[in-house]
Amino acid sequence: MRVDSDRLWRSLAELGEVGAYDDEATGLRGVCRLALTDADAAGRRLVRRWFEEVGLAVRVDRIGNTYGRRAGSDADAGVVMSGSHIDSVPTGGRFDGALGVLGALEVVRTLADAGTVTRRPIEIAFFTDEEGARFGTDMLGSATACGRLSVEQAWALRDRDGSTVRGELERIGFLGEAPERLTPPHAYVELHIEQGPILEAAGMDAGIVTGVQAISWFELTIVGRAAHAGTTPMELRRDAGLAAARINVRMHEMAASGRYGSGMRVTMGRIDASPNRVNIVPRNVVCTVDLRNPDDDAMAAAESDLERYYRELERDMPGIRIEARQTARTASVRFAPAVQSVIEARMQAHGVRYQRILSGAGHDAQELAAICPAGMIFVPGKHDGISHNPREFSTQEACALGTQLLLETLLDLSR
Ligand code: GLV
Ligand code: MN
Ligand code: MN
Repeated sequence: MRVDSDRLWRSLAELGEVGAYDDEATGLRGVCRLALTDADAAGRRLVRRWFEEVGLAVRVDRIGNTYGRRAGSDADAGVVMSGSHIDSVPTGGRFDGALGVLGALEVVRTLADAGTVTRRPIEIAFFTDEEGARFGTDMLGSATACGRLSVEQAWALRDRDGSTVRGELERIGFLGEAPERLTPPHAYVELHIEQGPILEAAGMDAGIVTGVQAISWFELTIVGRAAHAGTTPMELRRDAGLAAARINVRMHEMAASGRYGSGMRVTMGRIDASPNRVNIVPRNVVCTVDLRNPDDDAMAAAESDLERYYRELERDMPGIRIEARQTARTASVRFAPAVQSVIEARMQAHGVRYQRILSGAGHDAQELAAICPAGMIFVPGKHDGISHNPREFSTQEACALGTQLLLETLLDLSR
C-alpha cells in the first residue's frame, strides 16, 4: 500500500491557504492561524470535512480537540491514534502541525482506497492550541485530554484582549460535548517536521524522536515609573524597559555559561512596553521568558537562578518591581522504546537514512506519552530547519516518505 504523495501535497497547500498572509520580512506566503481565531475555525471546518468525507466518525470534545475514528474489526481493541495540531504561530509555515494531521488523514485515505480493515480502530486527531501563542499555555488541548490540565483551567485562560478559551470555543462552534479525558489509546504516533537543522545537516531522510526536552514559560510584569526622557536625570529613573533588557541579557549569559548544560535555550519572545512612546521612560513591561533544556535538573537550577536574579535586580534598581508568573511547564519526556523500534523496523525495511533525535520543540505526543506508548517521526526541514517562519519547508518527497512510514507504523501497531 502506498500513500498518495500528490494528494498529501495538495492538502498541505490547501490548508496552507487558510489564514495565509503575505510576509513582508521574507516576501513569502506565511500562515497565521492562531488558536480559536476565525482562521483557525476555517481550518478546523476544512479538516473536519475531510475527516467526514473519508468516512470517519467525528467527535469534538469539550476543549475543541477533534477526533475522527475508523472502525476496526475488533470493537473491543484499544485504538491506535495519530494526529497533531492545525493552529499556528502568527509567522507560521505550512508544515508545523499540519503535516501530522494531514499525514494521518492521508494514511486513512490510503486505507479507505485499499478497503483495508485493521484489527484495532484508527483514530486521527487535531488538538486545540498546541502552540500556546495566543493563550500562553502550549499543548493546551492534548494536556487536557491526557489529564495534566483540567478543562476548567484550560477554559479560563485569556488572550491579551481578555477573550477566554471557552468563549472562543463557543464563538467558533468548536465547544464540543464529547468528554475531554481520553481513554488511553493502545499507542500514539505523530509525524512532524523537525523544525531544526540536525537531520538536514546529517543528510538524513527521517528521524526517530527519542523524546522532548523540558519547557518552562513565564510571563513577567515589570513595574517602574513613567518619566520625561529629556529632563529626568539618569539616576532618578525607574526604567522598566532597562530591567527587561537586563533580564534578557542575563538569560543569554546563562545559556552561554555552560553551567546549565550545552543544550540550554532562552528566548524573550514578547516584550510589551507601555506607554511605548519615544520620549517616555517605560512605566511597565510585560514580557515572556521561554527556557528549554534536555536536563530536568539543569532546568530547575536555571529557573531558581533566574528568580534570584529578579530579586537582585530589584535591589540594584530601586523602584523597580518584577513579578514572574509561570504560564507553562513540562518536564522532559522519553518516548516508548517499543514504539521507536516499530518505527525503526519500517525505516530499515525501506533502506531509509535515519537517526535518533531529541525534539527541541514541544509536541502533542509528549502529552499522549503520559497515558500510552507514544512516539514520533520527524521529516527534515530545509534552510537550516527554520520554523515559526514562512520559510519553513520540507520537500514533497520527504513528507510523502514520512507519511508512508507513518502508515506502515500504524498498520504494525494496529495488528
Ligand atoms: C511549539 O511549537 C513550541 O513552542 O515548542
Ligand atoms: Mn508543532
Ligand atoms: Mn510550532
